[in-house]
Amino acid sequence: MSILVHQIKGDTVELLFDPTVERLEIGENLLLTEAGSGEGLLTQIIEFGTFAYPSMTEEQMRHMMELSYSPPGGTMHVYEDMGLLNAENLELCHAKIRRRVRQDGQWEPWDGWIPTRNVAVAKVSDSEVHRQCVPQFGNPLRIGTGFAGVEFAIDGRSYEKVNLITSAKGAGKSHLAKVLLLQLIEKRMPCVVFDINREYARLPGVTNLVPGENFRLSVEDFGVAPLVTLLRRFGLPETSAMNFENTLIRQVARNNNARRERRTPEFITVEGMISWAESNQFYPGQSEAARAVNAAIRSRLSYVENLGVFARNQGEVASLQSLLEQVSARSGALVIDLATLSTFAREGFVQAIVDAIKRFQPRSDPPKFPFLFFEEAHLYVSKEGINDIVTRSRHLGITSTFITNMVTDLDEVVLRQVDNLFLLYLPHDADVRHVSKSAITDPETVAAFAQRMKRYHAMMIGEASGGYPIVFKVDELKDIDVAGETRYSFGDNTNQ
Ligand SMILES: Nc1ncnc2c1ncn2[C@@H]1O[C@H](COP(=O)(O)OP(=O)(O)OP(=O)(O)O)[C@@H](O)[C@H]1O
Ligand SMILES: [Mg+2]
Repeated sequence: MSILVHQIKGDTVELLFDPTVERLEIGENLLLTEAGSGEGLLTQIIEFGTFAYPSMTEEQMRHMMELSYSPPGGTMHVYEDMGLLNAENLELCHAKIRRRVRQDGQWEPWDGWIPTRNVAVAKVSDSEVHRQCVPQFGNPLRIGTGFAGVEFAIDGRSYEKVNLITSAKGAGKSHLAKVLLLQLIEKRMPCVVFDINREYARLPGVTNLVPGENFRLSVEDFGVAPLVTLLRRFGLPETSAMNFENTLIRQVARNNNARRERRTPEFITVEGMISWAESNQFYPGQSEAARAVNAAIRSRLSYVENLGVFARNQGEVASLQSLLEQVSARSGALVIDLATLSTFAREGFVQAIVDAIKRFQPRSDPPKFPFLFFEEAHLYVSKEGINDIVTRSRHLGITSTFITNMVTDLDEVVLRQVDNLFLLYLPHDADVRHVSKSAITDPETVAAFAQRMKRYHAMMIGEASGGYPIVFKVDELKDIDVAGETRYSFGDNTNQ
C-alpha cells in the first residue's frame, strides 16, 4: 500500500497518500508495521488535509537521513513507487494512535512507543477491529455495517445501563433508537419508550399507550409524589401542596390497612378528591386559610381531571405493573404517547411511570429489567429526575437510552455516567465540547467524527465497543412503517 508516514506528533500520525490510488475514509483503521521488528501501531483516520510540499532541500535532507537507516527496499522504495514527481497530488491524512500491536498480532493499550519511519501501512478490516474490541456474550444486537459492508453487532449485555444517542436535528437519532429497540424486542427484552412525536407507535411488537384513550391510571398507581408534581406544575402553592400531600398520604395508608385486613379500599378518583376539597377536607375549618387552600387544590384538580389520565372507576384502570409484567414475560415494548399531553402534564405523568418502573420486580428468571428510551428527556424529566435515573440505574437494573439533539441540556453528571455514546452528525462546537465531557473519549475524537459524519452513519464508543471508536452505517428499517406524523400546511405541489 502506498501510504507513507510523514510525521508523528503526540498521538497523531500524519500520513501521506495519493488519493488517486488509495481510497481512505474517516474512521478507517490503519496498521503501521515497522520493518524489521514487526512491531506495530494501530491508528484510526480522523481528518484529511492538503499537503504543503516542503522545500527541496528539506526533502533531500530527509532522504539522506532515511537512507542512513532504511534497509534496502524500505522507505526509499515506496517513495520511488509513488514517484516524487507526482508529489503535488499527495494528500495528508491525520490518524490517531489507538493501540500498540505486538509482533504476534496482540492489541495492547498504546504505551507511547513509535516506529521508525520505515513502516508498511495496511488497512485493518472491520471484522478484525470487531473481533479484537467488541465484547461478545452471545447476545448480538445488529445495528449496522462497517467499512466494506462488514456486519456490526454489539452485545446486549454491554448495551445495558446508560446510553446516549445524539446528533443534529434530522441526522437519524430516532432511526438508530428504533433499530436498537427492534433488536431488543427480538431478543425478548422488555422496553418502554417515551414517545413525544408519535413515531414509535407503528413499529412491530409495540403496545401503544395513549393517555386518556386506552391508558388511564388509578390515583394510587400514579403515586402521591408525581401527583403533587403535577399539581405544582399547574401552579399549586407550596402550603396547599403540603396539605394535599398529607391528606392523600393518610387516605392511601387507610387503603393499605384495608387491604391488609382484607376490607375493600376506597377507590380514589380525581372527582372524589374535588369533593374532598369542596368539603374542606384538605384543610379543615372555616378560616380564611382553610378556604384558600381547599379552593387552590380544587381548581388545580379540575385541570388534572381534564387531562383524562386518571381512571374514573376500577374498570378503567390500566395497571402499569401488569403491563410491565406482560412485556417482561413475552417480549415487546410499551410506547407511551406523550404527544397528547400538555407540557405541564408531561413531567408528573412521566415521573409516575418512571416511579412504577423503579418499583417493578420482574418475575422472569433471570430477571429481565426494562430498557427505557427517552426522546428528548429534558422536555419532561427534571434535571434531578434524569440524574436520579442515571445514578440509580446500575442498582435498579434498568437501562436508559437518552435520545437528544439538545445535548447541552444534559447535566455533566449524566454524561460522566454514560456507558455507550452513539454519535451521528453533530456540527456545532458547543455540542461537541459538551459531549466530550462524557469521559468516554477525548474531545478531538468526538470533534473529528461528529463534524464529518456521513449521512446515516454513526460512531459508537463505550462498553459495547471495548472503548474503541467504531464508525458504521446504521441499518435501514426495511418494510417497516417508521413515518412520524409530521404535519405540513403547504402541500407538495410539484406534480401539478
Ligand atoms: N440509517 C438510515 N437508513 C435509512 N433512512 C434513515 C436512516 N437514518 C435515518 N433515516 C431517515 O432520515 C430521516 C431522519 O431520521 P430521524 O427521524 O431518525 O432523525 P432524528 O435525528 O431523530 O431527527 P429529529 O432531531 O428531528 O428527531 C427519517 O426519515 C429516517 O427514516
Ligand atoms: Mg428524532
